[in-house]
Amino acid sequence: MQSLSPQQNLKAALQASQTWWQDMGIETPPVPPAAPAKAKRPQTASQKTSKPSPSTPPAPQRAGLVEQIAKAEALASAAPTLEALKLAIEGFDAGILSDHAQKIVFARGNPQAEIMAIGEAPGRQEDETGTPFVGPAGQLLDKMFAAINLDADSLYITNVCNWRPPNNRNPSEDELALCKPFITRHMELVAPKIIVIVGGVSLQALTGKTGIMKTRGQWQELEVGGTKIPAIPLYHPAFLLRRPELKKYAWRDLLAVRERIENP
Ligand code: URA
Repeated sequence: MQSLSPQQNLKAALQASQTWWQDMGIETPPVPPAAPAKAKRPQTASQKTSKPSPSTPPAPQRAGLVEQIAKAEALASAAPTLEALKLAIEGFDAGILSDHAQKIVFARGNPQAEIMAIGEAPGRQEDETGTPFVGPAGQLLDKMFAAINLDADSLYITNVCNWRPPNNRNPSEDELALCKPFITRHMELVAPKIIVIVGGVSLQALTGKTGIMKTRGQWQELEVGGTKIPAIPLYHPAFLLRRPELKKYAWRDLLAVRERIENP
């Protein structure tokens, strides 16, 4: 068997993890083609000592991240209303995220609603319009909620990330950490009775848990402004568009939401 170069090994590993993430309901960017294998060269002294991981941003970026998170926290906690929070996000420098996005995507629906649905990050149509869940996944989400008698007036819909990441990739862990103060304050200001966590990225951002396949339909508790709010993870509608055979599980989870509304 022909041995693989490090780049080819990396590509195979990326492809395997991409398949896994896609099965989890998470959009992923295409894997770039691997460079052809090169003859091994002896390493220089500095190559031998420093081995940065390709997924780890360079040190200055990470140092800047801590400061930016602190700024986001200060801005978010100082926002007394949803309008003020939206303005704070609009004025915030979220680095690559805000550099590439056309608009911030804040929320849609009724801020007085008892149900708050929290998705992942905006896609192309959301970025163009500044409104969450208006593309094909959003249309399916609306149908899913309509099936349990929840219309635009009984729902408030937002995302854990307010900017569309470049190339429609998922937000990185650092980016989610940067957005966290905003979604935390958003939940505090809306103070819903029930939170629907839409997709694996949102599950991770809001609960720290991974694995939407095993966690969907299991009630969680989110501590929001000193109050514990029941929250249920649901398959992301974009995932269901690719895996329609899993809609039956989403239906069960939606029925659990309906049941909770009727018997809080
Ligand atoms: N997917 C999401 O998670 N949120 C949107 O707003 C659109 C697509």
